[in-house]
Amino acid sequence: MEKLINVAYLVASVLFILGIKQLGSPRTARNGNFLSSLGMLIAILVTLFDKHVLSFQWILVGMLVGGAIGAVMALKVEMTAMPQMVGLLNGFGGGASALVALSEYYRSGFNTQLETIISIMLSLIIGSVTFSGSLIAFGKLQGLVTGNSVQYPGQHVINLLLILLTVTLSLLVVLQQSLQWAVITVVGLGLLLGVLLVIPIGGADMPVVISLLNSYSGVAAATTGFVLRNPMLIITGALVGASGVILTNIMCRGMNRSLMNVLLGGWATAAQLEAARGKKEIVIKSVDAEEAAMLFESARSVIIVPGYGMAVAQAQHAVRDLKNVLEQKGIDVKFAIHPVAGRMPGHMNILLAESQIEYEKMYALEDINDAFHQTDIAFVVGANDVVNPAARNNPSSPIYGMPILNVDYAKTVIINKRSMAAGYAGIDNELFGYPNALMYFGDAREAITRLVNELKNHS
Ligand code: TAP
Repeated sequence: MEKLINVAYLVASVLFILGIKQLGSPRTARNGNFLSSLGMLIAILVTLFDKHVLSFQWILVGMLVGGAIGAVMALKVEMTAMPQMVGLLNGFGGGASALVALSEYYRSGFNTQLETIISIMLSLIIGSVTFSGSLIAFGKLQGLVTGNSVQYPGQHVINLLLILLTVTLSLLVVLQQSLQWAVITVVGLGLLLGVLLVIPIGGADMPVVISLLNSYSGVAAATTGFVLRNPMLIITGALVGASGVILTNIMCRGMNRSLMNVLLGGWATAAQLEAARGKKEIVIKSVDAEEAAMLFESARSVIIVPGYGMAVAQAQHAVRDLKNVLEQKGIDVKFAIHPVAGRMPGHMNILLAESQIEYEKMYALEDINDAFHQTDIAFVVGANDVVNPAARNNPSSPIYGMPILNVDYAKTVIINKRSMAAGYAGIDNELFGYPNALMYFGDAREAITRLVNELKNHS
């Protein structure tokens, strides 16, 4: 029996690894999701049979209630609110790990092995930091808590002292397991640290934090796996922890920031943002659908740059129609995807794939940036921060150093958005006033549909 269970765990682990591998590309992502779900089903069933479950009724109730809430949330959530949802789920994962560790602490009768009590304390700390940190991240992305960086004097010293206190109390518990007050204080300190570590992170840095908290929730699960001596939980926790760190690293590179800079609150505060804003009057030129259509008519090459606004407007199908009509006119069309365009990793790829745009036409930043020089029109659809030249040429800008798509190097840039409003980072974009830039105002779906109709009328 023991052997069979271990083989089943091994199969589930292999399915997880294959699943994660396939999630790496939009083409195979659906299948990857299926494989991972299958692995999870095997893991849950085997664990239920393996462990001496006290009462199946309670497990069933938990699965039904949790499953129902999860299903409703998944069906109701807007694509644009996905990062908040991921943030919340990370928090629940961390909270669950901490609760399991706490119950094991009390179940052990304060007399457990050294490695178990160390794992319990680690799980309590990481789990509670993940829980409260994720709630703050959720609040920031949902607009319930200020999205700006909140900083105050002595912040880092206070955090450091709290971390030292948490570690010291945990060591005390390891030496004397019956110190219940110390265990509860460690949980409280973990919750406080989660809040204090996330509030200084603001603006466009939030995605990095979400993926880092995702990694923490994995580490918390892995340490709980050590507490329960469950190899499956250790493996899955380690996989989540490692993939979260890899994603965090990819995002940091996408923004040209070090993780330390992000974590220590490198993003501008509300006051700094205000100071950086509105210094220069931007003079713009705008076009209507007919004028834009005429420009496209005379182009030979077009690069479309989608951003968050395309997701808001659900304009991906209109964008596909535009691509088709341009291609029918013999114009070369490519898509340039910035790693942090939209509000979650792969956001633009998913939307474009949904509207049946071929994967071969989607280019990552590093593969297409040199092509803007030889392109007639860069068409920006609801993107802002990811094409803001301030990242290249304004050292005082909060996004300075972030790699951007060089749309301004194209002969003409047409920017579609509804107004002159700022993007996620809350900063002005001088691109809109460049001599080769033209604003094409309107909701992306309506504006692009009008443009497509104009182009069809011209043929
Ligand atoms: P943003 O800089 O957020 O700009 C989006 C623009 O879309 C806005 O300026 C807005 O201008 C326009 N827009 C909104 N609704 C529209 C509609 N219905 N039709 C047309 N335009 C519309 O987007 P981006 O360039 O994609 O950059 C992403 C930003 O989000 C970065 O700062 C990134 O760091 C951050 N972020 C990314 C992620 C990930 S992982 N991708 C997660 C969280 C945050 P108007 O209001 O004038 O229309």
